[in-house]
Amino acid sequence: MTLKTLSIDPLLPPAEAAGLRSRIRAAGPYGLYVSAPIEEGLGAGLTRRHDAALAWFERQLAAGSLEPLDVQAARSNLFRGTWIERGEARLEGAAEVAAHPELASAAQELMGAALVEPYMLYANLLLPGQELPVHHDTPEFVGLDKTNTPEWFLVVCGHSGLFEDRRIRVASAVIFLAGDGDLLTFPDGIDAPPVPVSPRPNTAIVLDADELVHGVVRVGGPSQAAPPVEIGMELGWSEEGAWILRRDTEEVARYAPGEVRLSMQWKAWVFADAAERDRVRSGVAPLTLPGATRALTEELARRGLLPEEELDGTDLALLLMRSFIDLPRG
Ligand SMILES: [Fe+2]
Repeated sequence: MTLKTLSIDPLLPPAEAAGLRSRIRAAGPYGLYVSAPIEEGLGAGLTRRHDAALAWFERQLAAGSLEPLDVQAARSNLFRGTWIERGEARLEGAAEVAAHPELASAAQELMGAALVEPYMLYANLLLPGQELPVHHDTPEFVGLDKTNTPEWFLVVCGHSGLFEDRRIRVASAVIFLAGDGDLLTFPDGIDAPPVPVSPRPNTAIVLDADELVHGVVRVGGPSQAAPPVEIGMELGWSEEGAWILRRDTEEVARYAPGEVRLSMQWKAWVFADAAERDRVRSGVAPLTLPGATRALTEELARRGLLPEEELDGTDLALLLMRSFIDLPRG
């Protein structure tokens, strides 16, 4: 089965796109996406997207180009600004972008959904030498979403197929605003050649990012060195017209506007109709972390994948990722 995408070109009138880009620049500085590992519970010590990081590590190993962990972290830890997350818009014009009728109609067409409810809009900023290892986005369930559950666990839940009765379907869009670095998609599965999407400014692609494997190729080209990114740094716009990477007040590096890849991610809950929305919103028992873990462990046993010895939380987490999440590994 081919997973389709839809593109919108252009998304905004040119002056509006330029205004949006200026407001995003002015609204920084931006912090890093990952600031610490998960500290407790199942998978303690792992990162939020350990599933994608692990597959990336294995691909580098298979290609004989394994980089040290701190270099991998500097390459993949992007900067993020969140404008809407289940609430008020925190950037002028963000609510208008979230409610863009072409995004909604593309989501309707792509997902076969009558109802489209945008709920999230955020900005991703990648420096030269950064990339986004291929991954699925994190699905949502009644009771479990990324506000209360590690992201890798939600991806496991989604790909297990065990909780579809409590799945909240999500449509995603990427709005390209500046910089290079193709979006790589795998519409025919991870064993077929990927399809690159050029990030032309003021265009958007609408996709089912929870199902379609995707990533961002290295900004600045394959031989671009990793940027000097470390936990605690910020990226902000200077009035001189450049992006500045800072550790506290110290300038670490400086980038021209076109060197930094800037995109916005849009997400909407989608429902086939009002009956499906009402069933999902109030007609099913919420999924819980212990309940989902139990069901997943039983499924591992049913498939003959559960070893006889007792697993600790980390080993169980890694087994769940390997057993349920398909990503290119070689
Ligand atoms: Fe994604």
